[in-house]
Amino acid sequence: MGDKIRRIGVLTSGGDAPGMNAAVRAVVRTAIGNGIECIGIRRGWSGLINSDFVRLDSTSVSHIINRGGTILYTARCEEFLDPAGRDKAIATCKLLGLDGIVAIGGDGTFRGALALSRQVAERGQKLDVIGIPATIDNDIGCSYYTIGFDTACNTAIECIDKLRDTMQSHERCSVVEVMGRHAGYLALYVGTAVGATAVLIPERPVDFERDVVDKIRRARLAGTTHYMVVVAEGAGSAFEIATRIHDEIGIDPRVTVPGHIQRGGAPSARDRETASRMGYMAVQTLMEGKGNRIIAVQRGRLGDLDMEEALTMTKEFDMSLYAVLEAVTNGGSSRF
Ligand code: F6P
Repeated sequence: MGDKIRRIGVLTSGGDAPGMNAAVRAVVRTAIGNGIECIGIRRGWSGLINSDFVRLDSTSVSHIINRGGTILYTARCEEFLDPAGRDKAIATCKLLGLDGIVAIGGDGTFRGALALSRQVAERGQKLDVIGIPATIDNDIGCSYYTIGFDTACNTAIECIDKLRDTMQSHERCSVVEVMGRHAGYLALYVGTAVGATAVLIPERPVDFERDVVDKIRRARLAGTTHYMVVVAEGAGSAFEIATRIHDEIGIDPRVTVPGHIQRGGAPSARDRETASRMGYMAVQTLMEGKGNRIIAVQRGRLGDLDMEEALTMTKEFDMSLYAVLEAVTNGGSSRF
């Protein structure tokens, strides 16, 4: 055990993700159960700069495990990238008497956390920061799972299942653009789960003839008269893909971009469970006297990693799922 932790801050930063509330709840309840006070920092790092906070007790996090979004609000904060901005944040930490901060978010959130803790150390002080990975993109190199991914997959699947009904009735082609920033996890999982005719992801350079034209053609030859093309936003624009399909095959696709709908909604069982475990572990880690750690999933197990090292880590994109998609969707009947 390290020095006694008396008071911690918790914040959510970057794009929101379903399950962030469940993580906040777990942090607050675990802290309070161990005699640690908990302060909610609102609007991410900008809340720390602007001293925008709320005291949290056990009941302030009642009935939020089932809610999407984040009760603490979130933001992307340019000012925090600047040492002068971080100095203001350090002043808030000092004023509030924070011994540690749990930051829930993505890569940018953790980079901010690390920069803050280093700057605090340069001033001869100490602030332990812990990161909890939460983003629908599942694109954090050190963790094989990020809170929100499963819910976002399910939301996108629900949208596409509905689209399939109307595409089938009208015998049309649908091009759906899913989020994911520069990563194709969401698109590949969703595409596989809906049995998409074609899935375009940034991890696999697109050959339009092979990856789209040929797949639609083979589906048609197998008797299908409706097609579902799923495009990761990092692999191109659905509108451009649709235009190309029209120009090269002569069919008239409809484009759907579910957009931020994918970030909302009640978190799935997996996201509630993961968030609860991660929030609990974040506070335990602080209580063990460890700072600058990220709670991460490695080899299917939850653990804590050194933050600096974790931020240099990359994870291998599991292309075997693409092979599965091809085998089960386009290998046989080419029907979705
Ligand atoms: O990182 C989550 C994410 O939803 C990405 O999938 C997407 O590219 C981006 O955030 C959208 O950001 P914003 O909320 O600023 O529109």
